[in-house]
Amino acid sequence: MTQSSIEVPGKFITFEGIDGAGKSTHIGFVAEFLAARGKTVVSSREPGGTPLGEKLRELLLHEKMHLETEALLMFASRREHLARVIEPALARGDWLLSDRFTDASFAYQSGGRGLSREKMEALEHWVHPVLQPDLTLLFDVPLEVARQRLDATRTLDKFEREQADFFEKCRNEYLRRAAQFPERIVVVDSTQSIAAIQVRLAEVLEKLL
Ligand code: ADP
Ligand code: TYD
Repeated sequence: MTQSSIEVPGKFITFEGIDGAGKSTHIGFVAEFLAARGKTVVSSREPGGTPLGEKLRELLLHEKMHLETEALLMFASRREHLARVIEPALARGDWLLSDRFTDASFAYQSGGRGLSREKMEALEHWVHPVLQPDLTLLFDVPLEVARQRLDATRTLDKFEREQADFFEKCRNEYLRRAAQFPERIVVVDSTQSIAAIQVRLAEVLEKLL
């Protein structure tokens, strides 16, 4: 974990990208890769990851709400996730894999929906003033590719039913953050085959081991 003041033994990896980019496909591969290297791996997700967080997830994915309510509930879920899952796992020396974290709030609530970055930074500073992931894998694809993949597979939730320009803005905010934090965020070209992406992921993970 990257903490300027406190050193903990675990590692924190987050998975990001617009819906349909391929995060869920690759989180299992990363977990198996690390387990094969002898690491204890905990896989989790946001919103969710705790019993309360999963209840908030149901609301967030299916209820219409004010933009600021949405942002606050995302961070409420995150606060619980940090206290009950992420921080204990990292203190034990485990490798914590989270399907989304705070970059998703910047991408969706700020980029997509337009909440100011200042408000988002204030929430980030409140909920995790120091902690940042050691590595963020940003799965990047053009919108049309992500949409085709989603349409092929499932019933769409509130976010997945958004229009193309919403996802364009989310993607742009993700890429802006990748440029802002190049030491943490690795952009993975998710238009490649699953096998080619796994070769790339293995290279990136080897550097962290
Ligand atoms: P996310 O979790 O980012 O929303 P998923 O991992 O669920 O996306 O992927 C969405 C769909 O796209 C799934 O059906 C998955 O099998 C497929 N998929 C993911 N990555 C690729 C890829 N590189 N090439 C082709 N299909 C992919
Ligand atoms: P995700 O678990 O990736 O959905 P799925 O399992 O269907 O692939 O994420 C759920 C949705 O929540 C996704 O559309 C992005 C959104 N989200 C935000 O808007 N802000 C956030 O801070 C987080 C963590 C997720």
